[in-house]
Amino acid sequence: MNRVFLETYGCQMNVADSELMAGVLERAGLELVERAEDADAVILNTCAIREHAEQRVLGRLGEFARLKQANPALIVGVAGCMAQHLRKKLLDKKRVLDLVVGPDGYRALPELLRRAAGEPIAEVRLDRDETYGDLEPKREAGVRAWVTVQRGCDKFCTYCVVPYTRGRERSLPLDDLVRQMRHAAQAGHREIVLLGQTVNSWRHGEHDFADLLRAAAAVDGIERVRFTSPHPSDMTDRVIEAMATNAKVMPHVHLPLQSGADRILEAMNRTYTLEQFLGVVTRLRAAIPGVALSTDVIVGFPGETEEEYEQTLDVYRGVRFDSGFLFKYSARPDTRAFRWGETVSEEEKGRRLTKLIDLQLSISGEVNDAMLGRTLEVMVEGRSKRGETQLHGKSRDFKTVVFADDGSAPGTLRRVRIVASTPATLVGESAETPREPALVTLA
Ligand code: 5AD
Ligand code: SF4
Repeated sequence: MNRVFLETYGCQMNVADSELMAGVLERAGLELVERAEDADAVILNTCAIREHAEQRVLGRLGEFARLKQANPALIVGVAGCMAQHLRKKLLDKKRVLDLVVGPDGYRALPELLRRAAGEPIAEVRLDRDETYGDLEPKREAGVRAWVTVQRGCDKFCTYCVVPYTRGRERSLPLDDLVRQMRHAAQAGHREIVLLGQTVNSWRHGEHDFADLLRAAAAVDGIERVRFTSPHPSDMTDRVIEAMATNAKVMPHVHLPLQSGADRILEAMNRTYTLEQFLGVVTRLRAAIPGVALSTDVIVGFPGETEEEYEQTLDVYRGVRFDSGFLFKYSARPDTRAFRWGETVSEEEKGRRLTKLIDLQLSISGEVNDAMLGRTLEVMVEGRSKRGETQLHGKSRDFKTVVFADDGSAPGTLRRVRIVASTPATLVGESAETPREPALVTLA
């Protein structure tokens, strides 16, 4: 058993966890391969946030079942939130599976794989103390490094399975994080994204998230710092000030609203009222001129009336988020809301979602149109997928910008004038005068 194929579903936290697993596996002498067909073991790192995510993974497991028929020695593993969520049920239901490992079992992954070659095993204990802070992830190359600063969640929103699949909130120690970020910079990453389920509640000893933002911005070689996702209730003035006073902390906040109606916010256990949420928006906009805001919304939560849904639309028209991730409510076993059943039909959820998406698209279109003629600082990420002759990157406020390939390497900062826009992308042209050859040789 030498070669492992790792496939990732779900959020950035899972992508980061896969990088962690890759580090653990390589240090144990195992080789990571690009194709399942070349592997002795396949591991799916899974997501349980909505039913749809689980169905995709079950479909993929069917494909691995066929691979296993051809190669009975193949070890098939499921890791991540779905592993934790379904636990032993997964092992019983599908004869295909050899290993089920939850988010706190990755340190022992090489050992678990070896044992799974003998008999099917499930390692789904949650561990309040496991942060993996000392373990160096094997990060994907690229301008951006995802750094997990906190694991688990203590908020217990009533619709959400995460507190059950990832366990209690734990912050990684500041010194471990600074070391990891320095390594990321030395490996060539130029941007750090601090990751946590409620990332701005990060706390270690005397230090809070504002200190962590400053520490990240102070790492040599790091040009940009971002974070996701903060919880509105933990958006302190200290954090806002750290953003406002540090040019390397980017002016973009993903601030999940979830609903615009107080009764629903309360039933969701979001811990803020609409007024408090709007207060955070006002403080952010006052302190950080031009700050971009994105959000998450769930439509069709149990009991959501048409009127309450309309309130969400009103908040939307008022706040004008730059972008939004919009979801139909999905009832998740284990959560409190699951017991309340569903009161909004699939069809009605679909209608509410479509209307909200249309509203978001028109607002995003207007917000992006307002960028026409402006010059933005873009960090180049690479060649654009569509056109080989174009580069793509992100502006400081996290908008995707494409512009003609001028040979800039990934990680370079370029000044780009915006000449066209869609709701999802800005098109620009280089606003920099070509450098004098003499200057280049002198430099
Ligand atoms: N149904 C629909 N959306 C959900 N989210 C979390 N749980 C559910 C659920 N049960 C959404 C929330 C969260 C985002 C990551 O996923 O909007 O912010
Ligand atoms: Fe889930 Fe709420 Fe925690 Fe986010 S804050 S992970 S939505 S419980």
